[in-house]
Amino acid sequence: MYVIAHLSDPHLGPIPEARLSELLGKRFFGMMNWIGARRRNFGASTLGPLMDDLAAQDPDHICVTGDLVNVSLPEEFDTGATFLSSLGAPEKVSVVPGNHDAYVRSAMHYHLERWAPFLAGDDTHPHTPVDVDSFPFVRRRGDVAVVGVSTAVPTAVFLASGEAGRGQLGRLAALLTELQEEGLFRVVMIHHPPVGERPFHRDLRDAAAVRAVLARAGAELVIHGHDHRASLGRIPAPGGAIPVVGVPSASAGPEDDRGPGGYCLYRVSGAHGAWRCEMERRGYAPGSSTVQSLGCEVLSG
Ligand SMILES: [Fe+2]
Ligand SMILES: [Fe+2]
Repeated sequence: MYVIAHLSDPHLGPIPEARLSELLGKRFFGMMNWIGARRRNFGASTLGPLMDDLAAQDPDHICVTGDLVNVSLPEEFDTGATFLSSLGAPEKVSVVPGNHDAYVRSAMHYHLERWAPFLAGDDTHPHTPVDVDSFPFVRRRGDVAVVGVSTAVPTAVFLASGEAGRGQLGRLAALLTELQEEGLFRVVMIHHPPVGERPFHRDLRDAAAVRAVLARAGAELVIHGHDHRASLGRIPAPGGAIPVVGVPSASAGPEDDRGPGGYCLYRVSGAHGAWRCEMERRGYAPGSSTVQSLGCEVLSG
């Protein structure tokens, strides 16, 4: 049995003090959002006990599906790196960026530089810089392949959309096919959900193309963040529908209107052609300050 933990959208705070020049444009509105809403209901008091619970489960691998920061100030990425290191060694922890990790064009390189050990693939040479063309990355761990897709693209003010892009999708199709031939359980990490309906300004622009690649090439599990809600969708595929799981923000307080903080565990067993994957949701029940099991569900097998 191989156990994967999945958390997302911690939006680590507080936002560091910024120079006025850094607060012009989109970051200004992001700061207002933080001050108005997130600071009230997000925080270490929620995240800390949740991560303690996750550590106690002793997962084999931990996947973080983006939005670690808020307005992409450089110091926030150091906080993000410290957080990732607190979860475990880079070999055990994988991350993909979210829209808040690429909030403005001038900040696109920060996550690539400062989180490199956590988003470098097996084939990435330690001295080769990670760049946007490094995605999707793959990390083979026993019978499991963790595939990281980036949908983080800089967008205009008031937009939180994402895009995988044609180049990355071409590489993803080839990679998923190769991993299937290797007989591995394929977990695709992606920040923006490839299923479900949401407003244009928060959507994955090429969601239909992402779904088409996943349906054609196949995957055993897709995990995402961005919505800050617990969700379970499916992508129809010839080899059987692919489960698509979303988790709440790991920092959301018990009163958050999109759902209190939580994370998922996936217990993978079986073998190629006969995989079994059981999901357990853990986190805060509404109004409760205790981290607990919120239920189990068999996703496949
Ligand atoms: Fe988020
Ligand atoms: Fe997001």
